[in-house]
Formats: sequence, C-alpha cells, structure tokens
Amino acid sequence: MPVDPASLKLQIHPAACLREKAAVVESVDDEVRAVAARMIEVMNSADGIGLAAPQVGLGWRMFVCHVPPPDDAAGPEDPPTACAGPEVFINPEILKYEGPPEPYEEGCLSLPGILGEVRRPPIVTVRAIDGQGNTFERRAGGLLGRCWQHEIDHLDGVMIIDKMSQISRLKNRSALRQMERRGR
Ligand code: NI
Repeated sequence: MPVDPASLKLQIHPAACLREKAAVVESVDDEVRAVAARMIEVMNSADGIGLAAPQVGLGWRMFVCHVPPPDDAAGPEDPPTACAGPEVFINPEILKYEGPPEPYEEGCLSLPGILGEVRRPPIVTVRAIDGQGNTFERRAGGLLGRCWQHEIDHLDGVMIIDKMSQISRLKNRSALRQMERRGR
C-alpha cells in the first residue's frame, strides 16, 4: 500500500515504531522522494536538525538532516560540521569512525524535553543514496557528524535514552516516566 506523506506525523516515545529495525529502501522513486519532502517539513516545523523515518512511523532506512552553520562561523570546515540546506540519506551506512568518543548533550524530537550526554566518535564517514538515487560518501565532524550517528541509530531502534550517561539518565528519569505514562 503506498504511503500517504501527509499522514506522516512525528512519533513520540514510547511509540513502538521507534524501537523497530528499519528495512532497506529497495528503490528511490517518487514515493520515497515525497516521503523525504514530508520528513523535511516535519523536521522544520519541529525546529529539528535531523529526523529519521521511524520517527514518522515508517520503518524505512532513511533520514533527513539540516545542520545550519552557527551565525559566527568563520567559514566551511574540513571535515564539514554543518550543511547548506536539507539533505536526504537513504540506506546510510557508517564506513569509518575517527577519534575517541566525546560527550555532548543531545536532544531528540521523539523525546521532547529530554537532553542527555551521549559519547560518540567526533568524525564519521557515511555512504548513502541521495534523492536522485546516486550513491555518495561523505565525512563530517562536529554537530553534523553527531547528527548522522544519532539518526542512523534510529534506523536500528536505538535512542539517546539507551546511550546517555548515568547522570543524564537520573536527571531525566521523571520526565521520561511521565512521557511513558502518557503514551500508554
Ligand atoms: Ni532523534
């Protein structure tokens, strides 16, 4: 059954779709492009920098991201830490991690009000397919590299609440419980 992009809405923890392993996208067609466009819309209206398909209830291996450079950025960095506009990653795979894991406070659109410290390698190289069906490889650091890793985790049903430090876990315990009660 074809997906109606307009029906795709942001899913909040503990929605079951957030915990399932997403399936490979077999071909990049108009339906996939329409879904990507809708995901960009949902991401923008929630003021997010990234959104994975399971977060709109779709078990597909794809995510969108838009990590704008900070206003005071000196210029493009190598590897890049931001992107010029919204981007689509289909069937993304991490080819390489660089550097020892670093802590950083992350949020997630599916976990409103939760912020937690997550350790990740600072630089990654990712291979994915774009909206035109072309395979590409890119390397990123900073917030962009972190965003890619966070979104790829979503495709395997992994969320920041699984990875955050013990202190963050404690800090968010009651907010998380409340969210879980509401979702039931
Ligand atoms: Ni997230």
